[in-house]
Parts: sequence; structure tokens; C-alpha cells
Amino acid sequence: MKTVKIGNTNFEASAVALGIMRMAGMETADAANTLEAAVDAGINFIDSADIYGGGQSETKFKEALKASGISRDQLFIQSKGGIILDPARSHDGLVFGQRYDFSKQHLIDSVDGILKRMGIDYLDSFLLHRPDSLMEADDIADAFDTLQREGKVRHFGVSNFNPQQVEMVQSWVNQRLLINQLQFNVVHSGMVKEGMHVNMIDDASIMRDGGIMEYSRRKNMTIQAWSPFNYGLFAGMYINDPKFKKLNDKLEELGKKYGVSKNAIATAWILRHPAKVQVLLGTMNPEHIKDSAAGADVDLTKQEWYDLFFAAGNDLP
Ligand SMILES: NC(=O)c1ccc[n+]([C@@H]2O[C@H](COP(=O)([O-])OP(=O)(O)OC[C@H]3O[C@@H](n4cnc5c(N)ncnc54)[C@H](OP(=O)(O)O)[C@@H]3O)[C@@H](O)[C@H]2O)c1
Repeated sequence: MKTVKIGNTNFEASAVALGIMRMAGMETADAANTLEAAVDAGINFIDSADIYGGGQSETKFKEALKASGISRDQLFIQSKGGIILDPARSHDGLVFGQRYDFSKQHLIDSVDGILKRMGIDYLDSFLLHRPDSLMEADDIADAFDTLQREGKVRHFGVSNFNPQQVEMVQSWVNQRLLINQLQFNVVHSGMVKEGMHVNMIDDASIMRDGGIMEYSRRKNMTIQAWSPFNYGLFAGMYINDPKFKKLNDKLEELGKKYGVSKNAIATAWILRHPAKVQVLLGTMNPEHIKDSAAGADVDLTKQEWYDLFFAAGNDLP
């Protein structure tokens, strides 16, 4: 498994990581099989959030870790906080918030809850889940200092932040922000598309993220691509969806060439970018983990990367 360094650290994280958003509600033995399949595939990085399954994903992770032959130290364990869950809008393992909350007490309580549910003493990293417009400097700075001083969190980062927001929080805190988690895949590709349509008059030139791809590369921040196989906000998987026929034909053609699945080629497309990108897989199915993770060892040519970009309905000026 190819690795990527996390931010400016020397930690070699697997280029493909496992997100446990969909782990809530599984039988413990199945969840343990999921973790074992991930480790067997070379994955050493787990992503979570306090709200996944209303906390049940993390509780299940604790049981699964115990039931598996995996020790806590084999894994880089990350979670996120700062969203207050809205149970009425959350369904089928997908979670939506009623508000964001970056107050000092909420962030500290969030980490305490995560550690308890996951049955671990510290998090390798903790991310601010989605930018809270009401965030204030002292809250975040004090929370990060306290969590680090008490040995509860080793590293920090953000999720769904634009460059101005990263700069602002970075100017407040003593810890270097290492990671930014963002939705990114061949169908959800604004982060690269807008950079190739600069100053044009078409919609592709509209900058929706403030140039986060280039910013992250300049600042040596790791981008974690969430929902690698989904289009829209959990609108569905583009793989095998007839709405994306051209893309699926191309994924299939390249899958045959490299002897891997379409999901693996979709993974390889994300990892072909020279930014320090990590793919967060969401499947809990051991076979799907194995075949998607195989994409980390496929090196697409530049032309193949662009061919997939075009097949997903994009163009170039
Ligand atoms: N920071 C954020 O705001 C944010 C938002 C969303 C997610 N995330 C993180 O990103 C992770 C992944 O998100 P996601 O679950 O939406 O990502 P995903 O990997 O794009 O989607 C997973 C879904 O694809 C399905 N799938 C079907 N066939 C598959 C195959 N052959 N291979 C792989 N998957 C297949 C899976 O079903 P099966 O189980 O049947 O395989 C599962 O339902 C989450 O766990 C979470 O850690 C972060």
C-alpha cells in the first residue's frame, strides 16, 4: 500500500484509510472482520466523528477492536467534533447537524466522549468537522492547548475548511493544522476543475472553495478525500449508475487494463493527484475494502487521469 506523510510529520499513513461512519448497527463480529480486512489490505488509519451513528459507530469500533487481533498502536486513530447532531435529519448511517459548536467546553467534551466510546486513551488527531461561523479564537486555542497538555490529542486539523478559514484558525492556535478533510472524487472535482478554468466564463471557472487544493499543497497539509465514490451530498454512488455511463465505461476499460475493480480505478484517480491526498473508504464490506484499496497501487498515466476527468463530464478550456 502506497503511503502519504501526514502534514509535516514523518508519519507514513496508508494512502487509503477507513472511515467508520457506517459502522453503527453492525454485529461486533462483522465489524471486527471489517477492521481486520482493512489492516490486511495495508490500512493503518481510521477516521471517525463523534456524531457518526449518534456515537454508536465509535462504541462499535471499541467492541470490534477488542474482538479483532488488532492492537490500538497499529492504528492512527482520528475523530472529529464540532457538530451538534440533528437526529431528525440523520438516517441510514448518514448524519446531519442542527448547528455547529466550537465552544471550548463542547470541543473538550467531544474528545472526552470519543475517547470513552472508542475505549482509547488518546486520539492521534482531532479535526474541527465543519466551519462554525460563530467560532472564536480563545475557545479553539484553549481547547487545543488543554487537549494536548492532557495527552488526549496528539495532532489537529480541520474538515471542509477553505483557505481563509484555515489561515484564521492557524493564526489562533499553537498547534500546526496538518489535515483538511474535503469531498473529492472524479465526479466531485471542483477543487481541480476550477484551477484549470481560471478566468473563463463557464461555470467550471466558479471557485467554490477558495483555491483549497493549491493552498493545501503550499502549506503541506494532507487532504483527506471523503465519500470517494459518491456524487452530491450522499446522493448515491456514481459507480454502476447509468447516469454516469461514459465514466463507468472508462473505469471498466482501465480496470481491465490494470486487473482491478472500477472502485479501485476511482481510488487511483484521486491518489494520482500530486497533492498529499488520502482516500477515506466508507464501505464496511471486507471484499469491497480489499478491492477498493487495491487502487492505491495503480499508477494511472496523466492521459488516463484526464480521460477519466473528461468521461465524468468535465472539459478543459
Ligand atoms: N468530513 C466530512 O464532512 C465527511 C463527510 C462524509 C464522510 N466522511 C468520512 O468519509 C468516509 C467515507 O464516506 P462514504 O461512506 O460516504 O464514502 P464512499 O466510500 O464513497 O461510500 C461508501 C458506500 O459505497 C458503497 N459501495 C458499494 N459498492 C462498493 C464497492 N465495490 N466498494 C466500495 N464501496 C462500495 C458502500 O456500500 P457497501 O458497504 O455495500 O460496500 C457504502 O455504502 C466516512 O466513513 C467518514 O469517515 C467525512
